[in-house]
Amino acid sequence: MNNIPVLKALKKYIDERNAPFSMPGHKSGRGFTCTDEGRLFNEVMLKGDITEVEGLDNLHNPQGIIKEAQELLAKLYGSRASYFLVNGSTSGNLAMIFSAFKEGDKVLVERNCHRSIFNGIIMRKLQPIYIKNYMSKRYNAPISIDMGHFLQTLEENSDINGVILTYPNYYGITCDLSLVVKKCKERGIKVLVDCAHGAHFGISPLLPDNPIKLGADMAVMSAHKTLPSLTQTAYLHIGETMDKSLTDFYVSMFSSTSPSYTFMASMDYARYYLETYGREAFDSLIKTVDDYRDRINQIKGLHVISQEDIKSEYAQSPVGFDRTRLIINVDKEYNGYALLDYLRLKGVQSEMSDGFNTVLISSPFNSKEDFERLFMALKDFPMSDYKRKPIEIKVGTIPSRALLPWQAVESKSALVDLKDCEGKISGTNIVPYPPGVPIIMMGEFIDRDAISMVQYYLSNGVTILGIDEEKIRVIEQ
Ligand SMILES: Cc1ncc(COP(=O)(O)O)c(C=O)c1O
Repeated sequence: MNNIPVLKALKKYIDERNAPFSMPGHKSGRGFTCTDEGRLFNEVMLKGDITEVEGLDNLHNPQGIIKEAQELLAKLYGSRASYFLVNGSTSGNLAMIFSAFKEGDKVLVERNCHRSIFNGIIMRKLQPIYIKNYMSKRYNAPISIDMGHFLQTLEENSDINGVILTYPNYYGITCDLSLVVKKCKERGIKVLVDCAHGAHFGISPLLPDNPIKLGADMAVMSAHKTLPSLTQTAYLHIGETMDKSLTDFYVSMFSSTSPSYTFMASMDYARYYLETYGREAFDSLIKTVDDYRDRINQIKGLHVISQEDIKSEYAQSPVGFDRTRLIINVDKEYNGYALLDYLRLKGVQSEMSDGFNTVLISSPFNSKEDFERLFMALKDFPMSDYKRKPIEIKVGTIPSRALLPWQAVESKSALVDLKDCEGKISGTNIVPYPPGVPIIMMGEFIDRDAISMVQYYLSNGVTILGIDEEKIRVIEQ
């Protein structure tokens, strides 16, 4: 097997990771073997990898089976209309931004939004006003938008055209979306929700609500992240306030003209699975996760974050929590990246680590053996071999802006030594991991505080996106 590097590496990966706690939600195909309908999908999967052909339907102008499937999807999520996306939530976020806003519109957006949201802001030439994230001091992770800051910013900007939020964040935490919707409805402005990680929301009372039910105008969900659907598949839902024909246009614009029927059949199956088995399957999964949370919490140095932990630290505003997620926090003097690497060696694939927390995404297709393998591995984790100097997570104030993001992209830029950047305009986003919240976004002024923060993180070995050998790309003036 020479000269097929991707195929070879994929085979090795599959053979080594037998406890999948990462995306996709079908967990190595298990989601397609547990029901008759899933097995039917398995049977047609390869031969069904065709695109628009005679006798089927057209995703770009659905009149038959795709129309029917999208209507069933809309019924389940309570939307005015729902769409199959074959280019992930990434395309859904772009379609959402283009359908809801016009060039030059002013939007409130969470500071650590996904890059597809930020890219949409650049492409649509929007004016973003950033909402701060509230950081957990105990777990060094972003908990929610800072609701106080959100309400104040909304009050101060009477010309806002809409709000774009992530719900939930990567840690499964949700903000008080009902309040956001209420405040925005009072002003007649739109609420767009990046619910990429919450396609299963609303199916059980033990989970947060689906954003459309809470009154959001649009919501994007990655079916592949938590449901039995193939990677790259996602849903877009719209509420009553949206212009459907405009949304049809933009969804089509950001979708491949060769959508695979295998993708569409998997999205149709995921909806069917959720509707038919979802309540019971997710309730049972949450019970298992709760049990293992309690057991893992007995292991010294590790703590699985719970809804109560988050609520006790952020009492200002009600937050929700996706109880299918396991967020394993390591004590501050230990290196959390080591846990992810160690688990991988033990055959347990996590979704990601931020240096303090390892995030595991479970779904109804994780077996009891997966959880047991995880627990046994954690019990033997040699924490003390991975000591590090404790670092303090800093989140600064939002710097002032000289250029809109799209103007910064189109300006001439050059790499400049970090120490010489004070007063210059950043040509890039500077994001340390942890905490994953940008220090500077492109078009913003680089001030002394931002430079000190970057220097502090670099000297503590934190990975920073946007820094190239202690140089920053700045706009030439
Ligand atoms: C919050 C958020 N939004 C959007 C996306 C993009 O989703 P997709 O991979 O389905 O394009 C991701 C991907 O991880 C994400 O975390």
